Amino acid sequence: ANKKIGVVVGSLRKESFNKKIANFLIENAPDGYNLELIEIGHLALYNQDYDEGDSPASYHPFREQIKSVDGVIFVTPEYNRSVPGVLKNAIDVGSRPYGKNSWDGKPALVISSSIGNISGFGANHHLRQSLVFLNMPTLQQPEVYIPNCQELFDDQGKLNNADTADFLRNALRSFVDFMEKLSA
Ligand code: FNR
Repeated sequence: ANKKIGVVVGSLRKESFNKKIANFLIENAPDGYNLELIEIGHLALYNQDYDEGDSPASYHPFREQIKSVDGVIFVTPEYNRSVPGVLKNAIDVGSRPYGKNSWDGKPALVISSSIGNISGFGANHHLRQSLVFLNMPTLQQPEVYIPNCQELFDDQGKLNNADTADFLRNALRSFVDFMEKLSA
């Protein structure tokens, strides 16, 4: 089965560690799976008025891309113990108009990382709260928290920590197995 997984990164920063983790996942896609980035930085701030009339041009292709994937991986930093606004905005845009939730039923994997020791735990679990409402079945184990992410990459931005690489590959494998079970 050739399946597609969308990867949503909660940081727009050029040198984002979360983006580097996402790139590692894309390069380590399991056989039969394509991982593609879903960009969120260009999305206008959500306004419910858009649901009744014209919405920003960026919304339609974004919603179509979400609908086109078989699963979604979120890779996010923690901002002030929660989900970065840019990611929450993307979640909200994808969830509307009312009754047309593009995220509906898509299996999800949540990865959080941080330059600190708590690994974005707050963001990880606030995100999970939204995924319940969006009806996205979410992998429970392994939980993926990546601490001290500033120590994991070389000058080229490549992951150079073998334990983290193994852990992320295993998590990806578990997610794909979870997707297979759900679609069986
Ligand atoms: C942070 N950072 C942060 N880290 C953390 O562990 N818990 C937190 O609550 C916050 N809060 C926070 C707020 C804001 C506005 C910024 C800009 C940063 C630090 C964060 O872990 C660090 O900047 C990471 O490098 C962000 O991830 P990217 O951009 O490297 O992917």
